[in-house]
Amino acid sequence: EKIVLAYSGGLDTSVILPWLKETYGYEVIAYAADVGQGAELKGIKQKARKTGAKKTYVEDLRKEFVEDYVWPTLKSGAIYENEYLLGTSIARPLIAKRQVEIAQAEGATAVAHGATGKGNDQVRFELTFMALDPSLKIVAPWKDSNFTMRSREAAIDYAKERNIPIDQSKKKIYSRDRNLWHISHEGADLEDPWNEPKDDLFVMSNPISKTPNKADYVEIGFEQGIPVKLNGRAINGVTMIERLNDIGGKHGVGQADLVENRLVGIKSRGVYETPGGTILVQAHKFLEMLTLDRETTHYKQQIALKYADLVYDGQWFSPLREALDAFVDQTQKNVTGTVKLKLFKGRCTLAGMKSPKSLYSSDLASFTMGAEYDSTDATGFIKLFGLPMKVSGVVDRQTSGK
Ligand code: ARG
Ligand code: SIN
Repeated sequence: EKIVLAYSGGLDTSVILPWLKETYGYEVIAYAADVGQGAELKGIKQKARKTGAKKTYVEDLRKEFVEDYVWPTLKSGAIYENEYLLGTSIARPLIAKRQVEIAQAEGATAVAHGATGKGNDQVRFELTFMALDPSLKIVAPWKDSNFTMRSREAAIDYAKERNIPIDQSKKKIYSRDRNLWHISHEGADLEDPWNEPKDDLFVMSNPISKTPNKADYVEIGFEQGIPVKLNGRAINGVTMIERLNDIGGKHGVGQADLVENRLVGIKSRGVYETPGGTILVQAHKFLEMLTLDRETTHYKQQIALKYADLVYDGQWFSPLREALDAFVDQTQKNVTGTVKLKLFKGRCTLAGMKSPKSLYSSDLASFTMGAEYDSTDATGFIKLFGLPMKVSGVVDRQTSGK
C-alpha cells in the first residue's frame, strides 16, 4: 500500500518517513510543496531518497498560493485576533489539496502529516483531506501510540541509527513555518510571554534597532481588490510579494507578537513576520476607505471576522468560505486605484491615495457639500434619528423621580 507524506525535510518528517515503512509497511511517497519557503527546499529530493522515499514530488505552488489563497484572504480583510495575518493557515489547505491529488494519481490509500496533536495544523490538514477525498486513510504519527520519537533527542537517535540525514543540533529550537507570505516562530524562550523576542529571532525582517533612518515609499496599484502594480509597473503576484518582503523587511514592517487562542483550546505565544503582506493589507484597507460605501464597509468588517475564524480553523474547503468569497468579490468591483505608503521603523503609514472610483473626490464636493446638501435638512433628520433616545431619557427621568 502507498501513502503520501507531507514532507518538509525537517527532523520530524525525516523520522516519520522511515517510521511509516517500518510500522505499517507503507511504500512512502514524499511530497514537498514549494509555497515560497526558500532555502528549506534545497537538496530535498536527494534527502527524501536517502531517507527512504520510494518517490518524491516537489511542487511549485507559489502562483496558486498567491492567486487562490492569499488574494482572497487579502480581499476579505481577514485578520485573526486583530494581529495574525494567517500565513500558515492559508497555506495548509493548498498543501493538503495537492497531497490528495497526488495520492489519487498514485493510487495511494493513505496520507500522512507531521503536525502535532496540540495545534491548529493537524485540523487544517485533516479537514482538507476529509473534504476532498473522504476515502483516504489519515495517518498522524504524533497521535499514534506506536510513535515514540516525541523528543528531539529520541528523534535524532532514531535517525542516526538509520543513517538518515538530519540537522544534528539537540538544543531547543523554535518551531517555525515559512512561506512567501510570512514566517511564524513559536516555542523555546517565546513560550514565556514575559520574554521579549531576541533581535536574532527575525528571519524575513530587520529588528527595529537595525532598520534604516531614512524612509522608503512604495506605490501599490489595485484592480478590483487585487494588487497588480508596484511603483507604476505591472507585476505578477509572486514577484510583488517578494519585492515587498524585501523592502518591508528592511524597515521591520509587519512584526506581530501575540498570545493567540488555538482552535484546540490552548493559548499559544507566537511571533510573526509578514513584511510584504502587512504592506498589502494596509494598502488594501486604505483603498477601501476611498471606494466602499459605509454600509458595505461595516458589514464587510463582520464578514472579515468570520472569514478569519474559518481560515484559522481549517475550514477553507467549506461552503461558507465559498459563499463569503462571492460576497467579498462583489464588494471589490470598485476597489481600484493606487495607494502610496511610507515605510519607516516598523511602521507602514498612508502617504497618499487615489482612485477613479473614489467616492470621496473634489468633483463630488459641490454635490455633497453644496446645493445638494442643505444643512437645514439636518435638523429634521436629527429629531427623528434621536427620538428613541429622547423617549428613553424622558422615561428615565420620570421613573427616577426627578
Ligand atoms: N499559530 C500559527 C497558526 O496556527 C502558526 C502555526 C505554525 N505551524 C508550525 N508548524 N510551526 O496558524
Ligand atoms: C503543531 O502543533 O504541529 C504546530 C503548531 C500548530 O499547528 O498550531
